[in-house]
Amino acid sequence: MRKKILAANWKMNLTHSEAESYLQSFVTEIRDFSDVDVVIIPSFTAIPAALAASERIQTIRIGAQNMHWEKSGAFTGEISATMLRALYVRYVILGHSERRSLFGETDEIVNRKVKAALDAGLRPIFCIGESLHERDSNQFKQVLEGQIRKGLEGVPPRDLTEVVLAYEPCWAIGTGRTAPAEAEEAHAFIRSVLAALSDGATAERIRIQYGGSVKPDNVESLMREKNIDGLLVGGASLDPRSFAQIIRSTEAAVA
Ligand code: PGA
Repeated sequence: MRKKILAANWKMNLTHSEAESYLQSFVTEIRDFSDVDVVIIPSFTAIPAALAASERIQTIRIGAQNMHWEKSGAFTGEISATMLRALYVRYVILGHSERRSLFGETDEIVNRKVKAALDAGLRPIFCIGESLHERDSNQFKQVLEGQIRKGLEGVPPRDLTEVVLAYEPCWAIGTGRTAPAEAEEAHAFIRSVLAALSDGATAERIRIQYGGSVKPDNVESLMREKNIDGLLVGGASLDPRSFAQIIRSTEAAVA
């Protein structure tokens, strides 16, 4: 049985002091949980504040939204996996569609980052997803398979279970559109590609999150799907009460 994993992707929002107040309300909303994994993913500047506040609930993990693949060097403006590990960061989002579309990240770049994260002991939340055009022209399976094969190239099967995949169709991010049945079909397909890359037993252990317009009121229908192992939440995670509600609805769905 795969443990559900819920992640709050704050994107470029919340200063370090706003993160402190967020976490204060959040820990009173959500006293404790052990049936699901919860990862808060602030911007780099708010990571120390989030870590300090998360000490009140030991099960909360902190993640980062990006990193460079080199350990150190002349890369102005970049942050390495070593730096994140030194802060006790456990997860890192890689290949988010905003990084791909707005900052030119290619599958090759994402692949270097995935391997560097794993080498440093960070768990990648490796994002994939098709555009609206690719969905409408029924090319989405081809697109997803390409992203998975290129993004995970050279990752040994034993490391694959450390990776969390996040299926985020671009047409669902920030648009209010979600489609649980279409998501389940994509998740089952993603798992079949992972099985081809490794073996059936390994693929069964890899967690695949869904992301794109997740809100407290659509959690239940998403979590009912067999291959949806968690959620990557953007907009709705910026309100501590709504993210806490998403956690409670997930706990209720798995109970
Ligand atoms: P959204 O973003 O929940 O605001 O659609 C999800 C994401 O981009 O990770």
